[in-house]
Amino acid sequence: MKIIIGNDHASPEMKKQLVRYLEELGHEVVNFGVDTDESCNYPEIGEKVGRAVAAGQADCGILICGTGVGISIAANKVKGVRAAVCSETTTARLVKQHNNANIIAFGSRVVGLETAKDIVKTYLEAEFEGGGRHQLRIDMLHEIENRD
Ligand code: RB5
Repeated sequence: MKIIIGNDHASPEMKKQLVRYLEELGHEVVNFGVDTDESCNYPEIGEKVGRAVAAGQADCGILICGTGVGISIAANKVKGVRAAVCSETTTARLVKQHNNANIIAFGSRVVGLETAKDIVKTYLEAEFEGGGRHQLRIDMLHEIENRD
């Protein structure tokens, strides 16, 4: 898969380790994040990754900040994005199966590297359960964007 990854200054080391892990699994990873701990603004990175994923430039995105929250809120402001914060693997599986999340996010100050790897692997291996009620609800989510 082609994956876009983005992170702020709270998580360059975790991002680096995850890129290595994903490449070992055979994925192509494009880095939109920062590589130092110099202070930066997570909304810019979340928006940039969100726009690229929504435009179909990758199969999915991964976002990391201190908590995963700020950067995922930014991505979720972009039309077509369904970014989900996951701190464990059950959520990581269900956000693909039910919500067809196109971005997952987590916090480098919340989860350790091994849990982050498990979250990413679980999400990538899960499949959207498709049509019916799940697609109806996803369509309803995106209708909210059009009521702005
Ligand atoms: C940066 O210090 C921190 O606020 C950011 O990484 C994130 O946790 C925001 O949601």
